[in-house]
Amino acid sequence: NYPQGKQQSAVMSLLYLAQNQNNNWIPLSAMKYIAKLLDMPYIKVYEVATFYTMYNLAPVGKYFVQVCTTTPCMIRGSGKIVETCKKIISKKPGYINEDLDSSWIEVECLGACVNAPMVQINKDYYEDLTPEKAEIIFKGFKKGQLPNIGSQSGRKGSEPLEKRTTLLKNA
Ligand code: FES
Repeated sequence: NYPQGKQQSAVMSLLYLAQNQNNNWIPLSAMKYIAKLLDMPYIKVYEVATFYTMYNLAPVGKYFVQVCTTTPCMIRGSGKIVETCKKIISKKPGYINEDLDSSWIEVECLGACVNAPMVQINKDYYEDLTPEKAEIIFKGFKKGQLPNIGSQSGRKGSEPLEKRTTLLKNA
């Protein structure tokens, strides 16, 4: 996939791989290694790594919570989910709570607006959150417990919250 002369196009994949192999963050030494491997200046690897927010350039918790605070989630109460993060995990984003082995940050839209508000924990989405539900999830980190992924309101996928209003049999 990355022939000689075009090997630099592997930079994003290698950064992702390095992050996966290092507890979800990329140290400078990994960036330098990738630069050498791909025969490119280290600063170019650094530029890519610092441009994309999915690359973590500092240690994160074992349970890494990304709270979406873009408009649909904000309208549906993501501010209260952020408050819950501050209360349970750490007052400021980016700090590791040693007791819960977790950290949190705010992020832009994660593409699950229809089930807002939502958070991503490691690779999974937890949607239709309330502050109470978020608190239960975050406290569960201590026991290594996570609920089922997806909607936390009991609805399947993004079906209507109340009963169906379209495609009715006798409509
Ligand atoms: Fe939160 Fe899109 S606005 S997932």
